[in-house]
Amino acid sequence: MTTEQKKVFTNVIHDLKSPLAIITGLSEVFLRMMANDLNDKQRAVIHKISRHARFALDLIEDLLDIEQLSSGQVLLSRAILDLRPFLDDIVQTHSIAGAEKGIRIDLKMEGDCIIETDERRLREILNNLLSNALKYSHAQTSILISMLEEENNCIIIVKDQGIGIKEDEIDKLFTPFAQLTNHPTGNEKSTGLGLSIVKTLIELLGGEIAVSSVESEGTTFTLKLPKNNETK
Ligand SMILES: Nc1ncnc2c1ncn2[C@@H]1O[C@H](COP(=O)(O)OP(=O)(O)OP(=O)(O)O)[C@@H](O)[C@H]1O
Ligand SMILES: [Mg+2]
Repeated sequence: MTTEQKKVFTNVIHDLKSPLAIITGLSEVFLRMMANDLNDKQRAVIHKISRHARFALDLIEDLLDIEQLSSGQVLLSRAILDLRPFLDDIVQTHSIAGAEKGIRIDLKMEGDCIIETDERRLREILNNLLSNALKYSHAQTSILISMLEEENNCIIIVKDQGIGIKEDEIDKLFTPFAQLTNHPTGNEKSTGLGLSIVKTLIELLGGEIAVSSVESEGTTFTLKLPKNNETK
């Protein structure tokens, strides 16, 4: 793509964002306003509109993220973050989707991890890892998030008991749009963008990500985050 074409492409993606944000926003407002006046069928239709628009919006945001990340124009906003309440909140948020799929999320924290980082970006990383863990696991399994403190780093581990990844496919994981042979267990959408964004973001935060997986047994992602970050 030429630079000019790339610019047009990015502008189109960008322009798609506002109508989609309006559709998701308005369908949610409509549901709230009409809560008592809609029958189940009507409510289900609006839910469907909202869900599909939200999916499209997430995809657009991923594409914009990739564009921004590859052009190197990312502004990080670093602040002190206590990982205990932060992880509590993340687990609470995903537990709802977990419960719907019959998957429990446990949290084990050792020590205190207070780091200097960009909270929004770290949240995006964990949202991706947790949504994957849920997407590639069956009911009646659990996901364990552990936090531990090292001298200079904080470690966050996301371990699932899901379908796992073939050994010879592990090195494709972080490539955008990678198509692996495994599939989501609940008919969820799979675009193959999440982990490529995660990899770029964790490196921007001065950290690292590692993965290990055994087919049919589960997958573990380990994040290493420096406590005090010199990377700007
Ligand atoms: N916890 C996991 N267990 C098993 N396979 C996984 C797990 N996480 C990722 N994968 C595999 O790695 C691929 C890439 O993950 P990635 O998050 O980039 O894409 P996705 O989840 O398919 O789509 P998207 O995140 O864009 O919605 C997935 O399609 C899946 O094959
Ligand atoms: Mg994903």
